[in-house]
Amino acid sequence: MSNDLFSLQGRTLLLTGGAGLYGRGLAAMLAATGARLILAARDVAKLRKVADEEAALGRTVIAEQLDQGDEASIAALAERVHEKFGALDGLVNNAVLRPMKGTNGSAEQFAESMKVNATGLMLMHRHFGRKMADAGRGSIVNIGSIQGMIGPSYELYQGTGMGDLPPDYFFHKGGMENLTRFYAALYGPSSVRVNCLAPGGFFNNQPEPFLQRYCEHTMLGRMADETDLGGAVIFLLSDASRYITGVNLPVDGGYTAK
Ligand SMILES: NC(=O)c1ccc[n+]([C@@H]2O[C@H](COP(=O)([O-])OP(=O)(O)OC[C@H]3O[C@@H](n4cnc5c(N)ncnc54)[C@H](O)[C@@H]3O)[C@@H](O)[C@H]2O)c1
Repeated sequence: MSNDLFSLQGRTLLLTGGAGLYGRGLAAMLAATGARLILAARDVAKLRKVADEEAALGRTVIAEQLDQGDEASIAALAERVHEKFGALDGLVNNAVLRPMKGTNGSAEQFAESMKVNATGLMLMHRHFGRKMADAGRGSIVNIGSIQGMIGPSYELYQGTGMGDLPPDYFFHKGGMENLTRFYAALYGPSSVRVNCLAPGGFFNNQPEPFLQRYCEHTMLGRMADETDLGGAVIFLLSDASRYITGVNLPVDGGYTAK
């Protein structure tokens, strides 16, 4: 074991959805650890841009194509990665598809969401987790949400036009929390850990009345930025958390503690 419990130097990590709001910050923080970082999402050109930006800083970042809604695409990525690098040391399931637009979004949109956010998530654990289990090591970190832990806080949105929330998100983020425990139990005997993080809302220039109410409800008095999630992800990927598995950790400035 490394002297530095938090070190990810030389490890092979895969981050899904590395160009989005939270994902771009995670890509930067994980790449900065000295790990070999693989980014995977549908739009590989976007990921290549991130990889080039990080490479310019001397970091090792690789862009790969993945459609998490398609098992063949997940299996093909797993094969490419395993052939080149062997079993992953760490997998961060960060990608999310948001096809459902509001409370009355269609059943087809709900099903599309499940294909990526439920079935696809399970398949990521299967295709990458098995190989980690065979290798007898690894850590999977699922990026959930406070909206997988609590119901909608409709009062935050009054007068903002933002309150028409989609039910699929609350369903699959809640499911992710317990799927984490399922795979933690399955892979635990092989020394593969599986944990979940539940981030709070990311600051994205939301309307002022929402921001004010959200921040008042949050113990630290602010929304999250691109540097707030990475520390917890690094902790859970590293040996510093080697006796932690099956956990859901809110990273929400105290939002769900109030
Ligand atoms: N933004 C927030 O306020 C917030 C709050 C709590 C939790 N989260 C969680 O954080 C994570 C990142 O959220 P974000 O807001 O940065 O999302 P985002 O929409 O900015 O990015 C999502 C990423 O997922 C990728 N993706 C979507 N469908 C995919 C598919 N079929 N295959 C592969 N990749 C796919 C996209 O390419 C994109 O890079 C998500 O799991 C989200 O639920 C976000």
